[in-house]
Amino acid sequence: MPIRTIIEPFRIKSVEPIRWTTREQREELLREAHYNLFLLPADDVVIDLLTDSGTGAMSVHQWAAIMEGDESYAGSRSFDRFRDSIQNITGYKHVIPTHQGRAAERILFGVACKKGDVVPNNTHFDTTRANIEFLGAEAVDLLIPEGRQPALHHPFKGNMDVAALESLIARVGRERIPLVMLTVTNNSGGGQPVSMENVRQVSAVCRHHGIPLYFDACRFAENAWFIRLREEGYALKSPKEIAQEMFGYGDGCTMSAKKDGMANIGGFLCTNNDLLAQQEKDLLILTEGYPTYGGLAGRDLEAIAVGIQEALHEDYLRYRIASTAYLGNHIAAAGVPIVQPPGGHAIYLDARSFLPHISPEQFPGVALAAELYLEGGVRSVEIGSLMFAAAAQMDLVRLAIPRRVYTQSHIDYVVEVILEVFRRRDQIKGMRLTYEAPFLRHFTAHLQPIA
Ligand code: F0G
Repeated sequence: MPIRTIIEPFRIKSVEPIRWTTREQREELLREAHYNLFLLPADDVVIDLLTDSGTGAMSVHQWAAIMEGDESYAGSRSFDRFRDSIQNITGYKHVIPTHQGRAAERILFGVACKKGDVVPNNTHFDTTRANIEFLGAEAVDLLIPEGRQPALHHPFKGNMDVAALESLIARVGRERIPLVMLTVTNNSGGGQPVSMENVRQVSAVCRHHGIPLYFDACRFAENAWFIRLREEGYALKSPKEIAQEMFGYGDGCTMSAKKDGMANIGGFLCTNNDLLAQQEKDLLILTEGYPTYGGLAGRDLEAIAVGIQEALHEDYLRYRIASTAYLGNHIAAAGVPIVQPPGGHAIYLDARSFLPHISPEQFPGVALAAELYLEGGVRSVEIGSLMFAAAAQMDLVRLAIPRRVYTQSHIDYVVEVILEVFRRRDQIKGMRLTYEAPFLRHFTAHLQPIA
């Protein structure tokens, strides 16, 4: 029989101890944090699934490259490596480094977008939406309807609704749409992939109307793996070939290298448009730094140049997607409601179905996240009524998996914690707000369980 177990494709060379806490300590810590997991000291978290952004482990090759960092202000050879590595994957003419993804977004929209414009996306990530709205433009989500039903299975729930895109263009006019964006994978919609067919169709509509297509490429490698697994004609293609084909249908991208760049900080902006690139570089000098470092150290550029290639390694992606699915499938098999199928970087618990006795006004996602912490020190993040207030369509709890950080036994532990909370779910109480900031309230809110 062939061996089927998928193992972590690395050995661990350097370890970071986990500090244990008792349930009594966690009760106290949670009270002190006003039941908001953002307000916990990270040292008091056993397994931290708050985000997959900037929390990954670097490889020996990345650490070695860091020692080669050229910290020259201008013309650094580290920038040449960074640019060459990114061009090797994306094929885009101009590569502009930024300190993280949202800085790339701010510069792109700052140059390409103005008041009254409309920007379509499958689903805008919060920072993307905020950067568009900050300019007085409108961010429109055009996800396929299947993408909005948590329990429904569909291989590419991140796809854009192409008919809706065409009718939007017909309604508002091509002149008001500076670009169309596709977020791969679709983070806010459950880490779900976009198919190559959908990319091709969206690209054809954009070309027809002369509108540039940009990718929010944060998790482009995970998206490529899903295409290989699920789309006809791609099973024998390498993840890099798939990524290259995808980028070829677009005109540029924004990227947070804290995700599939496998780095702890960094990002970039790419474009094929010479005029736009010039304007972007001018703005970059004003706010981020000279165009050969863009707010990063030379060593960061080196870590990204190596990391972005490692993210496309087949053994890594096989393990990465299998380990996220492992968590999702184990809890779903026991009846825990999750967004199906499991996403690339995270599992999303459907808190409204998990805690049907708690109404959205009483923050079921916050209550569930607090219980997971109490039970086993697991930190997750609420994506629901606290984050989006009345605009929340779902109450989800995201368990994001940092890259190359946790082993299968850590994930087994998380499964056990979730199942224990699920067993006593009817005893869990809703929450009420005792303090909220005027915007982005979820980061600093104070809450209390309802007696
Ligand atoms: N786009 C997507 C799809 C993202 O998921 C993120 C960040 C960004 C843009 C912004 O990048 O953080 O480097 O400025 N997502 C993180 C998360 C914060 O936890 O999902 P950034």
